[in-house]
Amino acid sequence: MGTDLEKVLISESEIQDKLAELAAEIDRDYAGKELLLIGVLKGAVMVMADLSRKLHTDASMDWMAVSSYGSGTKSSGVVRILKDLDADLTGKHVLIVEDIIDSGLTLSWLVDNLRSRGPASVNVATLLRKPEAAKVQVDVRYVGFDIPKAFVVGYGLDYAERYRHLPFVATLAPHVYA
Ligand code: PRP
Ligand code: MN
Ligand code: MG
Repeated sequence: MGTDLEKVLISESEIQDKLAELAAEIDRDYAGKELLLIGVLKGAVMVMADLSRKLHTDASMDWMAVSSYGSGTKSSGVVRILKDLDADLTGKHVLIVEDIIDSGLTLSWLVDNLRSRGPASVNVATLLRKPEAAKVQVDVRYVGFDIPKAFVVGYGLDYAERYRHLPFVATLAPHVYA
């Protein structure tokens, strides 16, 4: 681990064990249904790859890329679609797959947007959730870990596009972003 990382917050095996638990729940909840997994680029790629491979439910996969408007690093809640879905959502059981819910603003917008497209259902699965997310009214069905308010990277999560490839989640040393 380089000096830019502070400590491992969630290990590779802890992540994989948790995703197996979530996959078992999803299998139970969607038994006999056709599931459409929607990954939010780019952070959700790892969760999507590992979670989907633990599912036994018949599932399709699609991707969306969105960007929050506004200055600064805080999400503004005003979202622009950079890449839309290929799939038509009419009558589909949709599960949004995220790496982290921080302010919850991106997700709140996304859930409303997808609900307006006539799906049979929309639920959310996220590996990580931060306390701030509690301020926004989004019902998240599957949560891996509630984590403290720290700058985390790895397993899809980036700092200036770095660290996404790490197989674990780590906190970033304050000197990196200070
Ligand atoms: C991150 C993360 C979530 C979102 C959460 O994505 O992957 O998608 O922010 O933030 P919020 O709850 O405050 O809205 P980011 O916009 O950094 O894009 P990325 O996935 O490409 O890194
Ligand atoms: Mn993201
Ligand atoms: Mg990011």
